Amino acid sequence: MMEKEPLLEVEGLQKVYGGKKSFLMPGKKVTAVKDVNFHIGKGETFGLIGESGSGKTTVGRMILRLIEPTSGKILYNGRSLRDLSKKEMVKLRNEVQIVFQDSGSAFNPRQTIGEQIGAGLKRFGENKDDGYIQAQVLHMLERVGLRADFYHRYPHELSGGQRQRAGIARALILKPKFLVLDEPVSALDVSVKAQIINLLIDLQKEFELTYLFIAHNLDLVAYFCDRVAVLSKGEVIETSPTIELFRNPKHETTKKLLSSMLTLDGHLGEVYQKRAII
Ligand SMILES: Nc1ncnc2c1ncn2[C@@H]1O[C@H](COP(=O)(O)OP(=O)(O)OP(=O)(O)O)[C@@H](O)[C@H]1O
Ligand SMILES: [Mg+2]
Repeated sequence: MMEKEPLLEVEGLQKVYGGKKSFLMPGKKVTAVKDVNFHIGKGETFGLIGESGSGKTTVGRMILRLIEPTSGKILYNGRSLRDLSKKEMVKLRNEVQIVFQDSGSAFNPRQTIGEQIGAGLKRFGENKDDGYIQAQVLHMLERVGLRADFYHRYPHELSGGQRQRAGIARALILKPKFLVLDEPVSALDVSVKAQIINLLIDLQKEFELTYLFIAHNLDLVAYFCDRVAVLSKGEVIETSPTIELFRNPKHETTKKLLSSMLTLDGHLGEVYQKRAII
């Protein structure tokens, strides 16, 4: 397969939490991410897998610049995030968005879904006209499979799956190129999981998106991801095309993750099917 041009490159990424001693918080250092390297090609779906506490969310948050790396580099379109001007940084903030595991807690309970999906456009968009923003929100609601009347609903009036759809709409409204999907379906029922993953696959084609898909097990990875990195205690222990990882896992941790999958055969079948199409 031809190597795709990288959109995101992560080199020697490290994050140490804490360590700042203060009267109230005696500093205890936690090395959440030790040494992480990977690259994600344009249009690719890259999986980041590992047990709870292995550092996946920390990596995602560093890519989004929600937290600063302790050391290491993040390159976006070949340029280090550190070297970007303020204006370029604002542009990047629009281009890179996140969908959380629990969109419920990421939404403000007192604001309507429509207002919150439109908030990004109101802050960062070029056209701040209310009518224009409302039309964009309605279009996006429809695109993620929510009826127009969801515009005026409050977060608690939505089911888990509907909230994830709204979370995806909010992430997409600024026309991003790269989405960090941090366990976007982990809290959902199996059938709803599949619906949301299929929606993400459709949207990826339509909007030419690149995905970093974070998950703590291999469930769905076979179906969804082109390549996968396995994270263990803050380090990437192997990176492989998905089909390779399933056929020939190199590391014991990966083998354990594989053996914990109940329906391995079914999943393998799906990988082969998907690859055969490509
Ligand atoms: N703000 C923080 N301050 C101190 N330690 C933290 C902080 N956030 C995370 N950690 C620690 O860093 C390590 C990695 O956490 P992280 O949330 O990145 O793991 P994860 O792989 O996303 O786990 P999960 O699958 O449970 O979401 C853990 O040991 C965690 O306790
Ligand atoms: Mg996490």
